[in-house]
Amino acid sequence: MIVVRFFKPYIIWVFCIIGFPVMAQISPGKLTDAHKELEGIASCTKCHDLGQSVSSAKCLDCHDEIQALLDAKRGFHASKEAVDKECIECHSEHHGRKFDMMNELFTNSRR
Ligand code: HEC
Ligand code: HEC
Ligand code: HEC
Repeated sequence: MIVVRFFKPYIIWVFCIIGFPVMAQISPGKLTDAHKELEGIASCTKCHDLGQSVSSAKCLDCHDEIQALLDAKRGFHASKEAVDKECIECHSEHHGRKFDMMNELFTNSRR
């Protein structure tokens, strides 16, 4: 009993000091199947700037096929409809493995 009484407040303090910042880093939901390799805290910054916002430039680091089309001014992404927009205006994430980034297009233009 003495052990429990000693450790309980200790555990709560550890949770307060370490737990809350760590919880703030927890993903709001699973990534779509195509991005499942990017699951986990080590990969957040592959898409997010420090802070939280998603960086289109980071998307394009990986999606060099889209970057190449943009450079060549070819394809849908180079069209008037898409060229000046952020990726997240049409492609969202964290809606689970089965979320289809292609089917949900244009339905999540929250920004
Ligand atoms: C494959 C790219 C990708 C990865 C990897 C990723 N995210 Fe995201 N995240 C997104 C996108 C896209 C959104 C949606 C932004 C929107 O629709 O406003 C988002 C939204 C969020 C949001 C909601 C905040 C907001 O601005 O609406 C949080 C919080 C978040 N991500 C945290 C994380 C954390 C923590 C990790 C790592 C465990 C992570 N993300 C990994 C792409 C990613
Ligand atoms: C670390 C590399 C990486 C990053 C960063 C990344 N992706 Fe991807 N993405 C992939 C891979 C790999 C695939 C699956 C193969 C493919 O379609 O190219 C994919 C697939 C996709 C697809 C097609 C999904 C489908 O169902 O066919 C879209 C749309 C997409 N990514 C958008 C984004 C957006 C928007 C961001 C930034 C928030 C992003 N990606 C960041 C690697 C990445
Ligand atoms: C105005 C909406 C819009 C914006 C903004 C947008 N996309 Fe797309 N994206 C689409 C549509 C529509 C498709 C499917 C049709 C196509 O590829 O021609 C698509 C397809 C994709 C694919 C799959 C391509 C394939 O051939 O499988 C990837 C990867 C992708 N987008 C990445 C991005 C990235 C990265 C950004 C930001 C630089 C971005 N998109 C911005 C609408 C958008």
